[in-house]
Amino acid sequence: MALTGLLLIGFLLMHMFGNFKMFLGEEAFNHYAGWLKGETPDGGILYPIMPAGAFIWVFRTVLVAAVLLHVYSALTLWQRAKAATPSAYQAKRTLSQTYSARTMRWGGVILAGVLIFHLAQFTVHSALTAGSFGATYADSPYKMFVGEFQQWWMVALYAIWMATVAMHVRHGFWSAFATLGANTSPKAHTVLNACAWAVAILLYIGFIFAPVAVLFGWIH
Ligand code: HEM
Repeated sequence: MALTGLLLIGFLLMHMFGNFKMFLGEEAFNHYAGWLKGETPDGGILYPIMPAGAFIWVFRTVLVAAVLLHVYSALTLWQRAKAATPSAYQAKRTLSQTYSARTMRWGGVILAGVLIFHLAQFTVHSALTAGSFGATYADSPYKMFVGEFQQWWMVALYAIWMATVAMHVRHGFWSAFATLGANTSPKAHTVLNACAWAVAILLYIGFIFAPVAVLFGWIH
């Protein structure tokens, strides 16, 4: 759970930095999107170590494997927790658990649900039609990004989704390092907690920045 979670947080940080390229203009963003898929004249990322276009599939395979292992670990833990408390408690009292910690399971399910929408919106649909929901963007990922986030409700949906992502990451980051043995003293506890908040806030602001910029017309 911890290792796959940290790998996925690493992916989120890369994805967030990649999205900042929206602020550099259409050419820069489209070059970046094409480079990741091996579509640029230089053969793209990791060419010639790998054939052009191979890296994205290796990357996707690792990501899907990490997500599947993460979900499998969650289900196993869920099962074990249930087995450890076979009968319902008379009184259910939550002892010093944060909101994020209490919502890891259902928060994770909601996060995954919107992720399927996200991939359908940007990856699958655009690969099939060079467009996104309801529109065609003539194979420009930049125009697709702008077109989608000119709709206020789409920005609202992503703002809510990113809140579930940030909360999940806040508790997950903390938990992962505790599992790996970093929570060794009250001071380490405080530092870990601060780092977990910092990563979660960075991801929230970093991700929602470009969609909000589109909505306000700073990026068009
Ligand atoms: C405000 C938040 C986000 C925005 C604006 C955004 C934007 C995008 C865009 C535009 C693409 C397509 C890029 C292209 O085809 O060139 C994409 C792909 C993707 N996004 Fe996001 N994203 C966001 C959040 C997330 C989050 C939170 C996750 C994971 C939990 C995620 C996972 C992915 C994945 C897995 C892909 C597909 C990569 C591939 O094609 O292999 N995204 N995103």
